[in-house]
Amino acid sequence: MSPVASAPGKVILCGEHAVVYGAPAIALPLSGIRAYAKIVKGDHPLTIIAEDLAEPPRVYRTGEMDMADPLALMARLAVEYLDAEDISGAIRLKSDIPIASGLGSGAAVSTALGRAIAMLYASEIPDKELSQLVYEVEKLHHGTPSGVDNTVVVYEAPVYFIKDHSIDLIKIAKPLQLVLAETGIAALTRDAVAAVRRRRQSAPARTAATFAEIGAIANEARDCLASGATRRLGELMTANHRLLQGLDVSSPELDRLVAAGLNGGAYGAKLSGGGRGGNIIALVDEHSVDAVRAKLLEAGAKRAMVASAGEGTGDDDDSD
Ligand code: PMV
Repeated sequence: MSPVASAPGKVILCGEHAVVYGAPAIALPLSGIRAYAKIVKGDHPLTIIAEDLAEPPRVYRTGEMDMADPLALMARLAVEYLDAEDISGAIRLKSDIPIASGLGSGAAVSTALGRAIAMLYASEIPDKELSQLVYEVEKLHHGTPSGVDNTVVVYEAPVYFIKDHSIDLIKIAKPLQLVLAETGIAALTRDAVAAVRRRRQSAPARTAATFAEIGAIANEARDCLASGATRRLGELMTANHRLLQGLDVSSPELDRLVAAGLNGGAYGAKLSGGGRGGNIIALVDEHSVDAVRAKLLEAGAKRAMVASAGEGTGDDDDSD
């Protein structure tokens, strides 16, 4: 069997957008929703085959790559890091993670690709350095990324993240059970981030106050995760959604899904990631999961996936 590298999708539990301006955010890796990079040894120059990431499937060959393309840039950065210009073989990319929907697809594909290139070269890129390379690629997706996506995806552990601070991998009492519901609207994080930037320029005091409230939510959510206070965590998620509405990064479709999730008995619900489209996350338990899923589909969700989030050790704080 060919070796396979992989990386998880992620959700932002709280703090998106405010995190770009220094507030804390919490992000969790998803279990079982991943990007894969299968390694096929061969003596041809490095070739990357993106099977279901682009329509029609794309093939990248060393020497013909456009560095404005995230896959090409990741390949180049990994090859440079490994000093592996003579690398040969092929990598087939596949992903279960919906694209442009706030679930970390870009960071997970980059991470899996970086790991696969290292494996193909019989080497390894340590997480800290890999996260930095993925961050460089995230700039193409986001413009001014905070760094939360690459961190949670590469370390594959719950993270309490403050931009430009040391990485804080956290322990949580138990993984969260979530329903992820898709609006079916693909939205670019870059556009939502730019809209918040404009808002911050036009209404600085009000926007700063919102960021501070979101930061307070992230801090309390961290305590709830540690103690397993699921009910309160849900309330905080819904409060975070209301604040994101105030930043104008929600949408009627997202709001409808949040309302439907709550109506179905979720502890809380919110958009997750850039917003304006993509997914909402609803916090559920085994008693509410079916009703919440049904309500979300009834309210127009294109898909409603049940997922567990937050597994991962959080043991090795990487604090420099
Ligand atoms: O990649 P997304 O859509 O999950 O968004 C990342 C979260 C933002 O805070 C909106 C942007 C960032 O760089 O932190």
